[in-house]
Amino acid sequence: MAYSPDRSSNGYGMAIAGAVAGFLAARVLPPLIAQAGGRLARSDPFDRLAQDHRAILDLIDRLEDAESAANRGILLLRLKRRLTVHALAEEDIVYPLLRQEVGEEQAVKRLYAEHGDIKVHLYVIETLVSGGEASEWRARVEALRDLVAEHAVQEEEVEFPRLRRLLRQDELTVMAGRMQREKALVL
Ligand SMILES: [Fe+2]
Ligand SMILES: [Fe+2]
Repeated sequence: MAYSPDRSSNGYGMAIAGAVAGFLAARVLPPLIAQAGGRLARSDPFDRLAQDHRAILDLIDRLEDAESAANRGILLLRLKRRLTVHALAEEDIVYPLLRQEVGEEQAVKRLYAEHGDIKVHLYVIETLVSGGEASEWRARVEALRDLVAEHAVQEEEVEFPRLRRLLRQDELTVMAGRMQREKALVL
């Protein structure tokens, strides 16, 4: 039977209801999830960022070993999502605080630029998912790992401690909550 876009049919109504529900979910769920993440927000925000780094580096190690296009593609999507969530919290909350509270203007510009470099590496790696030679794949993924690891060490050992020293416990709690909200924007 040919499809007929009858406005009175249940199918059309359900499609509209689905679209509205999807729209509402997109608008309402992030703050709800952020609220549900209140417990996480109360934990140390810098520890949470360091845990993200470990998870991201583990994922890159698994990506390096992936051989089939299917595995490469799945792991790359998971990595991109984790990096996006993490980068959003840093770029929208942590780096502005570093600049505002610590006065780290040059360091902050470099951190943003390194996130840009990471995206360029990801773009190149994505072109190798299908048909990329194993040796080139490994070399490109290793280059990404080196970049991310160096960036993470700089954050954990130099930049984050500078900010952490300046923030009181209540300010850390506010920062953690705002970071959690940013992360919840990426569903
Ligand atoms: Fe970063
Ligand atoms: Fe980071």
